[in-house]
Amino acid sequence: MRVCVVGSGGREHALATALGRTADVVVTPGNPGIPGSVPTPPEEVDADLFVIGPEVPLVDGLADRLRDAGRLVFGPGADGAHLEGSKAWMKQVLREAGVPTAAYGAFTDLKPALDFLGTLPAPWVVVEEWLDGPELSLLCVCDGQRAVPLAPAQDFKRLGDGDAGPNTGGMGAYSPVPVAGPHVVAEVLERAVEPTLAALRDRGIDYRGVLYAGLMLTATGPKVVEYNVRFGDPEAQAVLPRYAGDLAALLAEAAAGRIVTQPSFDERAAVTVALAAEGYPRSPRTGDIIEGVDEAQRLPDVTVFWAGVDRDGAGRWVTAGGRVLNVTALGDDLAAARAAAYDAIARISWPGMHYRTDIAAAAVAGRS
Ligand code: GLY
Repeated sequence: MRVCVVGSGGREHALATALGRTADVVVTPGNPGIPGSVPTPPEEVDADLFVIGPEVPLVDGLADRLRDAGRLVFGPGADGAHLEGSKAWMKQVLREAGVPTAAYGAFTDLKPALDFLGTLPAPWVVVEEWLDGPELSLLCVCDGQRAVPLAPAQDFKRLGDGDAGPNTGGMGAYSPVPVAGPHVVAEVLERAVEPTLAALRDRGIDYRGVLYAGLMLTATGPKVVEYNVRFGDPEAQAVLPRYAGDLAALLAEAAAGRIVTQPSFDERAAVTVALAAEGYPRSPRTGDIIEGVDEAQRLPDVTVFWAGVDRDGAGRWVTAGGRVLNVTALGDDLAAARAAAYDAIARISWPGMHYRTDIAAAAVAGRS
């Protein structure tokens, strides 16, 4: 099978690597660090299956255009992608489907918004009830009718250690998540993901792609904070290296509307850490020379996923985006994977490189 992955970051490199175990893979536009990258627009690529990474082309209807041209596509159409494109619509779908989520209100006038806040205990997240508890990312592969969960992951959205600093696209992730055993996954499927798929079907939406539930594991059970309509970045870089089966077959089945494969995962744990450029997330600096990646990649069970990178005129690797690399390591348990990831990172450097040093630390210490 020939698979075309659409996108250009670490997530797409992780997808291409996992799909490449059983399929020929081309990535568009990719980046200079991802093998098989081509500048050809997806509509002009010849492939048996298209896997669309980022949300923007999904919201813009790329999956619809490819399907209209007779292509097999893993990724929702613009109607389903609206779930990520409009938080108010997502909340409406959740409420109608009876999915546990934060109490919320959407307003156009100030007075009703202030009245609503008066009904909720502080603190608030933009007219939304504050939820407390460990975070969980559960990525489910959907064929329109059925959802199958991938291994749970936890993401780290804040820039600095201890969740300090501004929000980012994600500074690291790990999988599995000790606090999210099979009963938690089953509860999220039953109470959140399946009712959401049914609510989409009721609206005539045939959702084929990843439904990524961003959850808080509260004292009163898992609650959905948001849905995304794609693989998480960097969750994919932690989850996909653990995928033990034929990922291309699973995604092709979902794209065709009938999943028969049951996903299976390596028992080992994975930890991934994002290495960021000077100035990220506000104003990342580009052009810094990256050193040490070859040495890091030679370590056993370490993979470096290339994201914001380019080559300069002398052929050297340089920074070209905010999140530059993701270093993923597998280990017999989270402690071993974490140690291996940071050992690999110690070999890599560029001026201004920064990263979190506490990815998976709380889980290893038995605190989340
Ligand atoms: N890791 C968060 C996201 O992919 O949106």
